[in-house]
Amino acid sequence: MAISEAEIAQVRSATDIVALITEYVALKKSGRRWQGLCPFHAEKSPSFSVNAEEGRYYCFGCRVSGDQITFVREMQHLDFVDAVRLLADRAGIELHEDDASGAARKERQEFLAAMERAVTWYHERLLNSPDARPARDYLRSRGIAGEVARQFRLGWAPDEWDALTTSLKLSEPVLEGTGLGFVNKRGRRQDSLRARLIFPIFDSAGRAIAVGGRVLPGVAPTPDGFRPAKYKNSPETPIYSKRRTLYGLNWAKDDIIKSGEIIVCEGYTDVIACFQAGLARAVATCGTALGEDHFRIMRNFAQRIVLAYDADAAGQSAAASVYQWERQHEVDVFVAKLPRGSDPAELAQRDPSALASAIGSAVPFLQFRLDRVLGAANLATAEGRARGAEEALRVLAEHPSDLVRDQYLLQVADALRLDLAALRPRVAELTRNPPTSRTMTPRAVTPRSTAPLPRPGLEALRLTVHFPHDVGDRFIAEYFVNEVQREIFRGLTGGRGVSEVVDQLRRQGDEDAADVLSELAVDALDRDYTLDDVTAVVAQLLRSAVAEQLRGIERELRAGALTPGVAMATITDVKERLAQLDSPQASAAEADLRAWLLERAAT
Ligand code: UTP
Ligand code: MN
Repeated sequence: MAISEAEIAQVRSATDIVALITEYVALKKSGRRWQGLCPFHAEKSPSFSVNAEEGRYYCFGCRVSGDQITFVREMQHLDFVDAVRLLADRAGIELHEDDASGAARKERQEFLAAMERAVTWYHERLLNSPDARPARDYLRSRGIAGEVARQFRLGWAPDEWDALTTSLKLSEPVLEGTGLGFVNKRGRRQDSLRARLIFPIFDSAGRAIAVGGRVLPGVAPTPDGFRPAKYKNSPETPIYSKRRTLYGLNWAKDDIIKSGEIIVCEGYTDVIACFQAGLARAVATCGTALGEDHFRIMRNFAQRIVLAYDADAAGQSAAASVYQWERQHEVDVFVAKLPRGSDPAELAQRDPSALASAIGSAVPFLQFRLDRVLGAANLATAEGRARGAEEALRVLAEHPSDLVRDQYLLQVADALRLDLAALRPRVAELTRNPPTSRTMTPRAVTPRSTAPLPRPGLEALRLTVHFPHDVGDRFIAEYFVNEVQREIFRGLTGGRGVSEVVDQLRRQGDEDAADVLSELAVDALDRDYTLDDVTAVVAQLLRSAVAEQLRGIERELRAGALTPGVAMATITDVKERLAQLDSPQASAAEADLRAWLLERAAT
């Protein structure tokens, strides 16, 4: 899409990659590089390396690599253009996009601005308006004082047809585009939410993107017996994607990163209750089930995910998918054992410390499911125990790892006083024919060619990337016998930055070359380099490049394209120069061989 190469380059160079990445993970300076724990995979010792000058990162563990733009794309799950926009905004750069994408962007900004104004307006109404008294009383009865209402910017939508619409003078496209209102049958603009408590929903950067409106309790049904839904929420809009939104993440982010734990609730009120109970790391899905996209977001912030659902709801989560996502995103899912029939909001109000300890003593997802089955089994009779075993084994069979299954199998045998040996074949059978058959594509692993790349070529590229000024033009493309390396070298000396070259290589399908360069760019150069190193590398490159040309000459000779006399003279001459590379005449020899290689390449 239409952001110019020049502007992309400008955005890159205006973005300090170290500052950017440390918004997510801590980096420590180590030699010329910055290092830290990889935000893209779970690890205990840092293998994530950042090159500040080139604006590149690379993980020696999971081999992810990229620049400022790819980093933001991965972390925030944005497409390329949105990632560039975000970085441009951050750096105060104005992009000149083409008309279509520029218009879409303008529209989004308009919607965001309207949503922000609406949230403020609803909030004001809640705090100050006499008609919001029942709402304030209701919140207070649930332990939500003014201070908390302010923190979460709760609001009140008055019991009027168009109070918001007319007060804010929202245009038709903005009303409908944000879902804040609509045009009714009589052609009049009307508010979507009426007589409802407002829970504004923000994106992870804290921008208002939607609202959820809850009825107050005791609302009488309309004359035709219609009882309004408990919640009415903003629809999907250009600024609001439900499956990619976690309510509360904007406030919870810091604590989630600090604690390594994220608490997932079902409702807005549960999130607020968690915060009030001192658990400032809670989020909620927005009226959708917990899904793949939520996991992709969460795993960027924490490895430990604790479901704080009402016990029945937690039991109903699609187990097979949860295990898949655990593996795929390298997170661990736990379930807090809340008392039957209570959700975090209710428990927090009754006994905040009980909520904290339920979260603290959360058990692995499989354990939770197993406990439920075992807890319900009738241990008094042989039949009851057998039935319990059958159900427990079904639960176990959903887990993809036989190691994990086997450990839990011991528990089942123990709890039901059954023979382990009798259970094993059954669980194996269930695993082969799983009752649930949902599968997901595992994370794609980029295949990497295993053939080692020539060392001198790598060294030359490394020096070119890290010391372009010292290297000058000592290296030429003709020195590289390896095609991947030659391609990279051409890119690097074409006056472009590493990131541009990586992009270019990927565009032309040169994944190997792009990977090699990505890795090189963050090398923690573990010693000092001098011009002698450059000379030594040149000599090594010359040896292999010349050797290759000599093989070519032999082929030409056999094919009769050269006379033996000429061929022999050339070979002797070239070999003599090669020998001089270790002598005081090295630089003259280097120049001659270079000229010869260029000449050979030209013919
Ligand atoms: P709950 O019914 O548990 O509501 O639905 P709640 O948020 O916990 O509210 P309280 O504590 O009962 O007052 C959980 C979530 O499901 C969605 C909302 O996101 C809600 O927060 N939901 C529920 C809807 O979208 N629509 C509904 O009609 C009900
Ligand atoms: Mn609830």
